Amino acid sequence: AADIQDDLTQILVTEEEILAKLQELADRVAADYEGKDLVLVGVLKGAVMVMADFARALPMHAPMDWMAVSSYGASTKSSGVVQIRKDLDTDLHDKHVLIVEDIIDSGLTLSWLLENFESRGAESIEVLALLRKPEAAKVEIDCKYVGFDIPVEFVVGYGLDYAERYRNLRDVAVLAPHVYM
Ligand code: PRP
Ligand code: MN
Ligand code: MG
Repeated sequence: AADIQDDLTQILVTEEEILAKLQELADRVAADYEGKDLVLVGVLKGAVMVMADFARALPMHAPMDWMAVSSYGASTKSSGVVQIRKDLDTDLHDKHVLIVEDIIDSGLTLSWLLENFESRGAESIEVLALLRKPEAAKVEIDCKYVGFDIPVEFVVGYGLDYAERYRNLRDVAVLAPHVYM
């Protein structure tokens, strides 16, 4: 079988760095939401790993719900057209919602999602994103909890895919151009 490592040019954030950062963010979130009715909303599929590790780092009740949206498909560019593939199971009315994302790239997915959530009567809505590409922003997203700002490169691993591959890598790595060119 072809070696997955040959598809990567560089490890950008290691699993160890990710877990340490998520613990830091979890401590902040626990302090900010003390005594509040918090719901974590993970954005499938990319946020699966972040949700799993962040939720376990969080020392408080934190029900999880999931929304599946997709804008990239099998491409390295966002189409800008966001599709709901699975909606939430729970009512957000009077809840404090924390959206959990793997990455803010152009910001189009979250900007669409935030607008969609505003009408659901949540008490508050904030965003946690493990990664953010400030120089790729097409819309500014007000993200309260950011893990790492990274350069504009196509990254995979720890939930992030290219054509559904690489999500299961432990680290976040840069995808070699020969894979998608
Ligand atoms: C990716 C990623 C974010 C979004 C960020 O999801 O997981 O949700 O793109 O990009 P943006 O800021 O430019 O909108 P994708 O649409 O690839 O679906 P997936 O999570 O199932 O991989
Ligand atoms: Mn996603
Ligand atoms: Mg994707």
